[in-house]
Amino acid sequence: MTQGAHTSPGRRTVLGAAVLGSAALSAGAGATAAQAHGRPAGAHPRLPVPTVIAHRGASGHRPEHTLGSYQLALDMGADVIEQDLVPTKDGHLVCRHENDITGTTDVADHPEFASRRTTKTVDGTALTGWFTEDFTLAELKTLRAKERIPGTRQENTVYDGRWAIPTFEEVLRWAEKEGRRRGRPVWLYVETKHPTYFRKLGLPLEEPLAKLLRRYGRHGADSPTFLQSFEPTSMRRMAKLVSTPRVVLLWTADDRPWDFRETGDPRTVADLITPAGLRWIASFAQGIGPLLDLVVPKDKDGRLGEPTTLVRDAHAKGLVLHPYTLRNENGFLPADFRRGTDPAAYGDVFGAYRAYFATGIDGIFTDQPDTGLLAAADFRAARR
Ligand code: G3P
Ligand code: CA
Repeated sequence: MTQGAHTSPGRRTVLGAAVLGSAALSAGAGATAAQAHGRPAGAHPRLPVPTVIAHRGASGHRPEHTLGSYQLALDMGADVIEQDLVPTKDGHLVCRHENDITGTTDVADHPEFASRRTTKTVDGTALTGWFTEDFTLAELKTLRAKERIPGTRQENTVYDGRWAIPTFEEVLRWAEKEGRRRGRPVWLYVETKHPTYFRKLGLPLEEPLAKLLRRYGRHGADSPTFLQSFEPTSMRRMAKLVSTPRVVLLWTADDRPWDFRETGDPRTVADLITPAGLRWIASFAQGIGPLLDLVVPKDKDGRLGEPTTLVRDAHAKGLVLHPYTLRNENGFLPADFRRGTDPAAYGDVFGAYRAYFATGIDGIFTDQPDTGLLAAADFRAARR
């Protein structure tokens, strides 16, 4: 589903952003104190709206999910920095977009690991390569990260080999240190990847994640952290373990979350974005992270069409929306915002931001937070 990278403001301004109060977390479905004041629950008064979320760090400028990528995102001023989590064989949580590390590390250059290359079926998809769950943390630490899409981001390849795979605990320590240095917390946005698949392997994600969140004081409703998953079951499980805010990720309308497939729940994303589906999500989460196309669909030529009612419908249920993922390169932009024919060249990304921000979304994931921050500032200035 998400293996490849290619593939209203109004009152909700900097200080007027919706509150994520204990009422929102304990009330479950239905109206919350924030809603009663006409504001969706889930955003935070300490976060600007639109919130700029550094997708896998500043992954448009550095190899993704490295401390270098996270540090650059923070130095650029990103509001929140994303981590995707998968486990090692010995149960440590590490930051990778998927358990298949073939494309984002130098594992293929390690003859001592040649025999670990294998074919697995992950969430229904057969994949051949090397997988984190077949390596101890000590073994994974001998690898170096590299750029996922060198053909598109050639300049990022100069950093290949510079950083190791970070553990989530290392990121928590880094965030703590940077938070002290800056005098304000570093916000994290933490995704559980393939949680049903890993639980079946005896490597559950949620319990060790909750343990780490508690150890580093990110288990409260007001902690500077969002949790996220494409599998609602994972967020429901986290809701029982910690009070950290939770977001349900949504892919294409016809997608059926993998946990639903495993348990026989017939619902698809199309069902989850109906008022009834959103009410259900609001019973255990504070937000949704939809594919941008669910907010503004594209026509057959790849150009933006009319926005759907998703922003209004989600806000009506007290949910914030943090759609994904806007990238500067033509190859990832809607057709109306491309410039020239080089898919790796930057298009009119500011125009794309304007179109998406105009829908009233609360934030956005982007690989280039520097661009996103300028666009968000432009948007707020234009509304004053
Ligand atoms: O988590 C938001 C966005 O990152 C979801 O897409 O596949 O990049 O994790 P993915
Ligand atoms: Ca993610």
